[in-house]
Amino acid sequence: MAKGKLYTSEHLPDRALLVGLQIGSEDVLLPLEDSLEELALLAKTAGLNVVSQTTQHINTPNPKTLVGKGKVDEIKALAEELDAVVILFDDELHPRHQREMEEIFGEKRRVIDRTALILDIFAQHASTHEGALQVELAQYEYRLPRLTRAWTHLARQAGGGGGRSGGVGGVGLRGPGETQLESDRRQIGDRISQLKRELEKVRAHRGRYRAQRKRARVPVVAIVGYTNAGKSTLINAMTDSRVYVADKLFATLDPTTRKVKLPGGREALFTDTVGFIQKLPTALVEAFQATLEEIKDAELLLHVVDVTHPNVHAQAEAVLETLEDIGAEHVPILTVLNKIDRLEDPEAAQEALEDFEDAVAISALRGRGLDELLAAVGRKLYETLTPVEVLLPYEQGALIAAFHEQGQVELVEHTRKGVHMRGRLPGRLLARYKAFTSKPLPAAAEAD
Ligand code: GTP
Repeated sequence: MAKGKLYTSEHLPDRALLVGLQIGSEDVLLPLEDSLEELALLAKTAGLNVVSQTTQHINTPNPKTLVGKGKVDEIKALAEELDAVVILFDDELHPRHQREMEEIFGEKRRVIDRTALILDIFAQHASTHEGALQVELAQYEYRLPRLTRAWTHLARQAGGGGGRSGGVGGVGLRGPGETQLESDRRQIGDRISQLKRELEKVRAHRGRYRAQRKRARVPVVAIVGYTNAGKSTLINAMTDSRVYVADKLFATLDPTTRKVKLPGGREALFTDTVGFIQKLPTALVEAFQATLEEIKDAELLLHVVDVTHPNVHAQAEAVLETLEDIGAEHVPILTVLNKIDRLEDPEAAQEALEDFEDAVAISALRGRGLDELLAAVGRKLYETLTPVEVLLPYEQGALIAAFHEQGQVELVEHTRKGVHMRGRLPGRLLARYKAFTSKPLPAAAEAD
C-alpha cells in the first residue's frame, strides 16, 4: 500500500472526527481544547482530514464503551452526517471500548486512538532499519489484543514499518482446528518474536558502536524537545548538515549525529532525537528505548523549547517527565529557547529566560544566538569534567596523550620525575589516573 496514509481506501484523505474526553478530575498536562488541537495536528500529519470535533466530561467511564450511551449515539449521528470514517479518540482506548464502539458505528467506520495515530506517524517516518523494526513491533503489540477481524483486513492497514522490514502480510495458513482469528493471532505472535530477535541483533551492533564512540571520548550532546520545537533546524544550523526539517510532528524519528567544533577547539557530537509529546504511551517509550538510550548516555542534554508556543510550559514539563520515565534525569540540561525571531517583543525573550533556569535564547532558523549557545555548551561540558592534578611518569605516554585529547589541560610542566599536569578529565577516565594523582582539586575551586 502507499506509504504515509492511515487508511488508504480512497485517494482523498479520510475524513476524521475527533473526540476529546475529560475523565473524572484526573490531572492533565494540557487543557482539553489544547490537547485536541494537538491531536488535530497529529491527524493532519498522518494524512487525515479532520472534519469536526466533540468533547465530553465523564465522571464514571462506561465499562463497555467508555463514553455513555447518549454520547455514543451523538458521535454516531455526527459521523454519519459529516461522512467521517475515522473516529479518533484523544485518549488511549481499551481494546474492548474500541471493539464495542466499532460495532455500534458500523463496518464502514474505524475507531482509533492517539496511540494508534502516533504509531502510524512513527511508521511513516522511521528511516533506519532499527526505527522500522521498533515501530513494527510496537504496532503489532498494540494490535494483538485488539484483533477482531481476519488479518487480511489488518494487513491492509499496516503502516510503513510493516512493509519495509518484510512484514508477514497476507492470509496465513491455518493450523488444524484453528479459526482464522486464532491463526492470525499466532502469526502475529510469531512475527513479534522474530522482530524482537532482529532488534536484539541491531541493538548489539549499536551498543558496539556506542562503546567505540565512548573510547573516542568525544562528548555527546543529545538534543531533546517537544515535537516541532526545532531540534532538526538547530542541528542543521550548527552543522550545515541536511537533517530533514519539516513543519510536521515527528519529522525526525531516528537519531542523527553530527560533529561540531566548540569554541576553544574541543569537539562534541550533537545528536538529534525523536520528538516528545504529552500522552506518549509508555509502550511506545519502551519501543524506542534503544533510541532513547542515546539520551541517557549523553554528557549533556539540550532541551529545545518553542518559546512562542502557547503551552510552552506544559510542553517543557512533558519533556522533563519523559526524561524521568526513561531514567535520564541525571544528565545535565541546558535549555534552549528557540524561535525568538517570532517574538514581537524582544523583551519577551528576556522574560522567558528568567522563567527557565540555565537557558539560552536562539533562533535556529535565523542562526541567531548560536555562538552563545555553543559557548554555553562548552561551559556546561567543562562543568561535567572533574578537576585533577597528576604527575605522570614519562613511560605513561598513553595517559599523557589521553589527557590532552579528552580532557581540558590547564597546566603542563616537564619535571625530572615526569609530566606534571593539571586540568579536568571526564569521570569515566579518572580511575586510570588515580595512581598518579598528587592532589584532587575541589570542584568549586576550579569553576570559572
Ligand atoms: P520533530 O521532528 O517533530 O521532533 O520536530 P523538530 O523539533 O525537529 O522541529 P523542526 O526542526 O522540524 O522544526 C519544526 C518547524 O519549526 C519547522 O517549520 C521549522 O522551520 C520551524 N522552526 C524551527 N526553528 C525555528 C526558529 O528559530 N524560528 C522560526 N520562526 N521557526 C523555526
